[in-house]
Amino acid sequence: MSEAQKKEIKVATGDRAILPEGTRLVPIYIMGKRYQVPETLTIQKALEYAGYQFIRSCGCRGGICGACPTVYRIMGDYHLHFCLACQTVVQENMYLTQIPFFPANRASYKLEEVDASAETIMKLYPEVMKCVACNTCTKSCPMDIEVMEYVNAAMRGDIAKVARLSFDCIQCGLCSSRCPAQIQHYHLAQLCRRLHAKYQVPKAEHLQARVADIKAGKYDEMLKNLVNSDEETLRKLYVEREMEPQESEGWEPQDKTFL
Ligand code: SF4
Ligand code: SF4
Ligand code: FES
Repeated sequence: MSEAQKKEIKVATGDRAILPEGTRLVPIYIMGKRYQVPETLTIQKALEYAGYQFIRSCGCRGGICGACPTVYRIMGDYHLHFCLACQTVVQENMYLTQIPFFPANRASYKLEEVDASAETIMKLYPEVMKCVACNTCTKSCPMDIEVMEYVNAAMRGDIAKVARLSFDCIQCGLCSSRCPAQIQHYHLAQLCRRLHAKYQVPKAEHLQARVADIKAGKYDEMLKNLVNSDEETLRKLYVEREMEPQESEGWEPQDKTFL
């Protein structure tokens, strides 16, 4: 790469993509317009490199928030591909478009007024029964979730299975954008995870005990001391703190004052 070319390559915004020596420029198409972008960038950074600025359709940049669903085709390949823009590196001749938000209706309910049963699912999301088992939802999911399988579990009222299978869902909406039965998968799955957590798994006793400690003021004095400490003291406390080891099975801190 010539010095002039190197100077032309701007560093993408966000978490500063440093382009490796010799990075090649490849053509991609954004909403139909051709751009030359470094081949090492993610789609998200390539969009910024090409001059686009994210107002929507970008959040965590780490594959967690589900704000950057993207659809693309590669020139000469009939397949339609689905991905997260922050997690996918550009390819030559990629035709891209983003779906910043896919509309889906969310049922209105109060968790205290519904129970963990198939009837609740049928009442709030009756369209689930229209699934034609095409598996398009699973193929669209950038998180490799067995979406059709959890839809089938929902039809049987197996709420625990829906909760388990959908646990990694980031609510990107790509499954719902393609479903011929108009199912709103991620809202349905969220309902099941909520029902599962409220009615089917044991309550976390250690968490309740910790909340009670907080309410009783067990940490008030310690927090007050921290707030009133100078920077040097805080740094010392931080550097000298007891750290949990990588292999922490059976490990307990020596200082149990606040346990
Ligand atoms: S895309 Fe819709 S109809 Fe097809 S398997 Fe998934 S939920 Fe069922
Ligand atoms: S299940 Fe649907 S909404 Fe959830 S991550 Fe997969 S495609 Fe996105
Ligand atoms: S920006 Fe959050 S998943 Fe991509």
